[in-house]
Amino acid sequence: MNTKEQIEKIKNDLEAKTQNLDNMKDLNDLRVEFLGKKGVVTNLSSIMKELPLEEKKDFGKTLNELRNYVEETLTTLKEEIETRELNKRLEKESVDVTLPGTKLNVGSIHPITKIINEVEDLFISMGYDVEEGPEVENDLYNFEMLNLPAGHPARDAQDSFYINEEMLLRSQTSPVQVRTMLKNKEKSPIRIICPGKVYRKDNDDATHSHEFHQIEGLVVDRNISMNHLKGTLEILAKSLFGENKEVRFRPSFFPFTEPSVEVDLTCFKCGGKGCNICKGTGWIEVLGAGMVHPNVLKGCGYDPKIYTGFAFGVGVERIAMLKYEISDIREFYTNNMKFLEQFNVYEGGDTNESK
Ligand code: PHE
Repeated sequence: MNTKEQIEKIKNDLEAKTQNLDNMKDLNDLRVEFLGKKGVVTNLSSIMKELPLEEKKDFGKTLNELRNYVEETLTTLKEEIETRELNKRLEKESVDVTLPGTKLNVGSIHPITKIINEVEDLFISMGYDVEEGPEVENDLYNFEMLNLPAGHPARDAQDSFYINEEMLLRSQTSPVQVRTMLKNKEKSPIRIICPGKVYRKDNDDATHSHEFHQIEGLVVDRNISMNHLKGTLEILAKSLFGENKEVRFRPSFFPFTEPSVEVDLTCFKCGGKGCNICKGTGWIEVLGAGMVHPNVLKGCGYDPKIYTGFAFGVGVERIAMLKYEISDIREFYTNNMKFLEQFNVYEGGDTNESK
């Protein structure tokens, strides 16, 4: 075989061997076979020595061309295989973005927290701030400055846990009203809600607990009227219990509001016809409220001739019990998984979704 034939054979060989080659390993083997130290192309160059001088130049050129040809063929093939493998992988790994996500069991949001979150979201959307106050409160803020001086009979209703003569576990979130007004030196309009725990000496039963949650609301500004209170509570009622709910005010008494009202809501169960939930009345009592008492305003440095305000206090457990039809308040505190799992949530999902 002369060199020309040898080169032709190598080319044919290469063509035959690359025909069905479809993976990188075989391709690398082929590269070694042709271009490696003992490869066919390299072997061919060893005959160079034996050639007469005038043929050497031509042969060298041809050999170079051959090397380039093999190199190019293998590189093209390499790119083809890589593209093919990538496409195969992409096909296999393609993501169907329309598939529902994996449901992660991330536990539950406690129903009390759910109500607080809901109410916070609503009031924040109306421009309110969320305030906090200490659970260990002084008598001055919890009673005295709320127009309940020592010896006032209304203190009995909230007979409380005293730490010492002056300090007690707050019996209501109303002291946050006082704290907020006192710290607002420039008397800018106040719009706050304050969720938190409160404590009262109560005999625990299905509807009473010595520790529970309230959400306090307070608005103080010029020209605030009872209309604002009613409108605001209507929005709250509809947001918690759905549209077509009406709010009814009944006269009541709180030392720190005047006039004071007990607020009823159209029964969410029967829509006002009367049922076992509303005890046949069509109304459910949901919270206490009123116009901030002039004595409270005065005590906090507000001139009641210039400023007026409204306040309300919602019992969170009561709202949750009504909304989720929970019959025993103790369910909230016993960490019963069966109870809590009913409020199971998925990350980013509807907080109301069950497992
Ligand atoms: N603090 C009152 C209670 O605990 C509720 C309330 C708050 C009433 C604000 C009127 C205004 O019963």
